[in-house]
Amino acid sequence: MPQASPTRPSYVIDEMISAKSIAARVEELAREITRHFEGTDKLVVVGLLRGSFVFIADLVRELDLPVEVDFLEASSYGDRMESAREVRILKDLTGEISGRDVLVVEDIVDTGFTLSHVIRMLRARGPSRLEICALLDKPSRREVDIKAGWTGFVIPDEFVVGYGIDYAQRNRNLPHIGKVRFPE
Ligand code: IMP
Ligand code: MG
Repeated sequence: MPQASPTRPSYVIDEMISAKSIAARVEELAREITRHFEGTDKLVVVGLLRGSFVFIADLVRELDLPVEVDFLEASSYGDRMESAREVRILKDLTGEISGRDVLVVEDIVDTGFTLSHVIRMLRARGPSRLEICALLDKPSRREVDIKAGWTGFVIPDEFVVGYGIDYAQRNRNLPHIGKVRFPE
């Protein structure tokens, strides 16, 4: 699906994970998460904007638990290719998480800097439990030791888009996950 524009070189997106596979995996994750938090009445699912918005929407609808939803937006400074070491909070949570069960939902764990910063910040607020669910994991890119309790798919070091994940703010609305390729 080429998307040419005057400011972006044209590229194609090759399907990597189908919408059907994603849906099946989300259902499995939700089942495990439901079992893990069984009996809770104080769960807050925290979506990291913007990449997790589709995933979190599907995931919470499969959870068989009472749940609140909140959002946090973190942004990395500097050159992404160099891996961002400074993380800025652009939008903080609206609610309190002290004494709550918290499930942080992230789209991709890449170097791990974003998530480790966010987790350190949230842990300082005294949640009773703090867990992570990431849709995608690129372990070959990891620089900070952080691991999600639940991971949807482990993928190779490719730039991916779709299902909420963007390239220069585009392609978040693709129903599947694809990898970006620049033809010769
Ligand atoms: P980290 O701090 O390097 O782990 O960065 C993780 C964030 O970088 C993710 O939440 C995404 O927003 C972004 N990111 C990493 N890999 C990709 C990709 O392949 N496509 C789009 N965004 C990505
Ligand atoms: Mg992100």
